[in-house]
Formats: sequence, structure tokens, C-alpha cells
Amino acid sequence: MMEKPKNWVFSDPRLQDLRQEYAQYTPEDFKVWKILFERQMPNLPKAASQAYLDGIETVAFNADKIANFEELNQILAKTTGWAVQVVPGLIDDDLFFGLLNNRRFPSSTWLRKMSQLDYLEEPDMFHDAFAHMPMLTNQPYVDFLEKLSGIALKHIEDPWAIQLLSRIYWFTIEFGLIKENGELKIYGAGILSSAGETKFSLSNEPVHIPYDVRRILNQEYWKDRFQDKYFVIESYEQLYESLPEIEAVLEEMLGSGK
Ligand SMILES: [Fe+2]
Repeated sequence: MMEKPKNWVFSDPRLQDLRQEYAQYTPEDFKVWKILFERQMPNLPKAASQAYLDGIETVAFNADKIANFEELNQILAKTTGWAVQVVPGLIDDDLFFGLLNNRRFPSSTWLRKMSQLDYLEEPDMFHDAFAHMPMLTNQPYVDFLEKLSGIALKHIEDPWAIQLLSRIYWFTIEFGLIKENGELKIYGAGILSSAGETKFSLSNEPVHIPYDVRRILNQEYWKDRFQDKYFVIESYEQLYESLPEIEAVLEEMLGSGK
């Protein structure tokens, strides 16, 4: 198969000319953002990773203003060189990993309604922006994300490989915990956008397991309830440094599966 140039994704017709139409946000949208922001933010100084707390200050999110991607992209350009790319909700795996591999974080622009504050079928921009984007200011974290996506693109024709790599994404980017000064903290966006799971993930109810590539690759996850186990990293460098192991164990699992 011919290898595509790395930046193929930018001319992909599925992205069309999608932008955040900021003027289209309604008073209800602003109210939803504010309620969610004010409900979750007070929990975070104690619960979130320092990288997230530093990040949310860098990106300057606040309760009264829905995140503005144009302003955000100017800030990210100066910190890690990443940017947010507007996508039409859930997207195909090749586009998803293709964007990440080009340092573009895919995000929706719609906000949940007042009637859906606690339950969502798919991630809205409160999740995508509030929970993910502050972490895009952390260099080893984004470098990990870029390279992990590069591994996924190599295997994009193989749904089983993508499923295995999704477990890594799931238990780190979405549901990862980190140990900081001996205490468990959250960096996973799936937890950070849920007040309930923020409390639950740090409690004694679930199991906390030291980051273990082989174990994660063998670990199924569920999407419709809290996880019963969370994997704990020691640092963001640890994620980055685990990339060769991810690739090696993946190859081993794919080889033995045939
Ligand atoms: Fe997410």
C-alpha cells in the first residue's frame, strides 16, 4: 500500500470547512457551560493533576465564557504547537488518529441541553474542551498522543489492532490517573468532565493499578458506566517512554492472533 503523506488529513473532504460558529451559541448554551464549569471546577484543585490545573490557567477557560477555539489555538500555538480542529461529532478512526498525528485535537462545537446535563450519548464540547484541552499544553503528554496515533495509523486497516490501541487511549487519555507527591490525581478527560466519576475514581471503590502496557492491551473497557479499574502513571514522560513497548506488545498480540 502506498503510504500517504503525513498531512493528508487536512485535505480530507469529511472535514469540509468546519469552524466554531461562536456567534451561534445561545443563552442556554452559555448557561449550560457555566453550570457544568461551576459544578466541576471546585472539585479539581484537590483532584486533578497539576498539569491539568496549570493547563486550564494557560488556556484561560472560565465559567462565563464558552471556550473560544480561535483564541485557544493562538495560545496552544505558543505552548505545544497543537491546535483544535472542529469535527462533526464522532468521526472515523483514520480521521481521528490522522488529526492527532498532525497535532490537531478533534472537537465538537455543540453543547448538551439543560435537560441532558448528566447523560450524554456522545461527547459534547464541554467534554472535548473543558476536559481535554488544558492537557494539550503539556509537552510529553501531547508527544505521546501524537506518536500513539502514528502507531494506530500504521494499523488502520486492522480493526483488532485499533481496538487494542483504543484500550491504551481509553485508560490513559480518557481515564488515566497519575501519582503526584504520593497522591492519586486525575488527568483522564472522561473523568475530568464527570463530577461523579471524579469522586469515584479516587475513592477506594475501584482498583488502582500501576501503568502496565501489556495489562492495558489485554483489558476490555466499558463506555456506559464508571470503570472498575484505573491505571496510574508516575509521570507523563512514562507514557511517552512506553511507546516502544506499546508497539512491541501490540505486534506480539497481532502476530499470535493469526
Ligand atoms: Fe474524550
